[in-house]
Amino acid sequence: MDHFLYRNGALYAEDVPVADIAAEVGTPFYVYSTATLLRHYRLFDEALDGVDHLVCYAMKAAGNLAILKTLAQAGAGMDVVSGGEYLRARAAGVPGDKIVFSGVGKTAEEMRTALQGGIRQFNVESEPEMEQLNLVAQSLGMVAPITIRVNPDVDAKTHAKIATGKSENKFGIPIARARAVYARAAELPGIEVVGIDVHIGSQLTQLEPFELAYAKVAELTEQLRADGHHIRRLDLGGGLGIPYTRSNEAPPLPVEYGAMIKRTLGHLGCEIEIEPGRLIAGNAGLLVSSVIYMKSGEGRDFLILDAAMNDLIRPAMYDAHHDIIPVIEPAPGVEQRPYDVVGPVCETGDTFARQRDLPPMASGDLVAFRSAGAYGAVMASEYNARPLVPEVLVNGDQFAVIRRRPSFEEMMNRDTIPEWL
Ligand code: LLP
Repeated sequence: MDHFLYRNGALYAEDVPVADIAAEVGTPFYVYSTATLLRHYRLFDEALDGVDHLVCYAMKAAGNLAILKTLAQAGAGMDVVSGGEYLRARAAGVPGDKIVFSGVGKTAEEMRTALQGGIRQFNVESEPEMEQLNLVAQSLGMVAPITIRVNPDVDAKTHAKIATGKSENKFGIPIARARAVYARAAELPGIEVVGIDVHIGSQLTQLEPFELAYAKVAELTEQLRADGHHIRRLDLGGGLGIPYTRSNEAPPLPVEYGAMIKRTLGHLGCEIEIEPGRLIAGNAGLLVSSVIYMKSGEGRDFLILDAAMNDLIRPAMYDAHHDIIPVIEPAPGVEQRPYDVVGPVCETGDTFARQRDLPPMASGDLVAFRSAGAYGAVMASEYNARPLVPEVLVNGDQFAVIRRRPSFEEMMNRDTIPEWL
């Protein structure tokens, strides 16, 4: 469920007409709904009712400070994967003891930043990383709390580019080696083991792969405890999928996911952390764009938008489907026709949808890409010297620009000309 609905023939973001935002901000832009962000965060929080838990929003999905602050004020922790994300989370008011640091290649500098600023735990992904963290912590006279990310070798049954839990993926340490690596951790004075971490992939539409992985984590918890380790926290990663089409079969709900977690791991008495990103932000955001031209080609019509692959890369990168809807609701019974919906970037890959049925569209009409809140703005680039898309946050009948569109001058001023030119 989200808060982007038609009212009296016009698309609204909560209580704000999307066309009003377009008139003020210009297109393309991303718009997020506060109510949807909070609703999704609370669904996870409530799903884990009854167990000690922390929902750590995976801010890689949408990392604007205003979004982070919205969630932080509701009580969310954060999952960060870089020094930059760590500093953003802190700037949004997230206390260090609610931040977990994931990622396969943390640098010594990033480790120092997080240790000095305060951190709940590092999710360590390899032995060399653990040795490095030990050295950094010792050099600061500190002890780094860690979980070790295990790779359970399960098939997440998702797109190959976002599956992470198979043995051939670069993530975590093979679960079969876990006991040896935990034994090594126990020898390191700069390291304190607090638990186990697992994350098997993103946009999972079934519970079964999670359950297989979590059952392996349960077994490992008992083994490690028998080995003398104090396993008190389980970080279960993110990955629960969202419906990208309205017709599609719906992925499991957070409440079902939470029940499965309690069933599989509840007996262990551990504190549970989860790291959802997409489910919190995905359906809380739209990308709004204007039609530049409708071009009739050989046997097909192209709808050329002012948004492009640099603004929303998911269709080009993962063959992802995003519903595209007109901002003015089509009159009932209006005949739809197929369009190839494309951007202006000079690549054939800059195609959002092929032969997508839409009502007749003309230059200047506004369209919205649904489910664009996660992995949309954060993955945007300035390819073709196109400015990064602005972001807008709606809250009830108010809206605010939370990242403005840069001017071309600002973009050019980041370059410097060497003195020999
Ligand atoms: N935790 C870790 C360690 C992760 O690597 C990720 C996502 C998450 C949590 C959050 O997963 P989520 O709940 O959002 O599925 N750009 C891709 C998705 C990449 C996901 C990367 N890791 C896309 O647009 O589909």
